[in-house]
Amino acid sequence: MARITASVYTSHVPAIGAAMDLGKTQEPYWQKVFAGYDFSRQWLKDNKPDVVFLVYNDHATAFSLELIPTFAIGTAAQFKVADEGWGPRPVPDVVGAPDLASHIAHSVIQQDFDLTIVNKMDVDHGLTVPLSLMCGQPREWPFKVIPFAVNVVQYPVPSGMRCFRLGQAIRKAIESYDEDLNVQIWGTGGMSHQLQGPRAGLINKEWDNRFLDRLIEDPEGLASVPHIEYVQEAGSEGIELVMWLIARGAMADVAGGRKPTVKHRFYHVPASNTAVGHLILENNL
Ligand code: DHB
Ligand code: FE
Repeated sequence: MARITASVYTSHVPAIGAAMDLGKTQEPYWQKVFAGYDFSRQWLKDNKPDVVFLVYNDHATAFSLELIPTFAIGTAAQFKVADEGWGPRPVPDVVGAPDLASHIAHSVIQQDFDLTIVNKMDVDHGLTVPLSLMCGQPREWPFKVIPFAVNVVQYPVPSGMRCFRLGQAIRKAIESYDEDLNVQIWGTGGMSHQLQGPRAGLINKEWDNRFLDRLIEDPEGLASVPHIEYVQEAGSEGIELVMWLIARGAMADVAGGRKPTVKHRFYHVPASNTAVGHLILENNL
């Protein structure tokens, strides 16, 4: 059977990708950000998954205002790195897991969640920056990836509770797949940031850290926080954080199992216009 062994949470700041691609990681500003991922890169080598189910958001790159799926699952064998305006990032294309992705689509749709099935899609910084942060700069990504895109760009966006429940359905789907696979689920985006308007530059350290505390200890309670609180407290782009609840909902304790172990926690301000948050939770199976 396929097993979810761990969940990983991380911000996806595009300037982090640019810092890596342009060889600036040793600059003092960026050193402090990347230091938070030293542990994680070793941990990922020691706990290499076969597949990562990667929850992220597209930034009007693959999807535009012409077509806005709330939840989209990538079922292709390969996903190209998107050109976001200055050429694709010099990172490997993403190798998918079409059989497992199709199984998850089937199971989750049968559990009453409507997914958009995507057989061709370029992936933007929302997906590639978390991979770069966790894997460094390999010639090929060391595992297969199922991209799972969530609309947090154009209102209406899904609620935290819907994301949390969807995570539970994804867990059931993965754990009913009849092949011994080590699967990790990643929740990405956030933390507090606002890129536009009079409040551009907003960061809320207290709210972010409370979010991390509650994500660990009280995910269901956290799931009932309404989207307006994210916007008010964490800024217009802070709403990206609802995606973390999908990954958290897929952990064993939510289905009656044991509490996860917090392997790593990191929080840093600033990186570009956002706070960087990062967590690794390991299931105790
Ligand atoms: C920034 C952060 C994001 O999440 C994003 O998608 C684009 C830009 C920023 O901090 O600049
Ligand atoms: Fe973003």
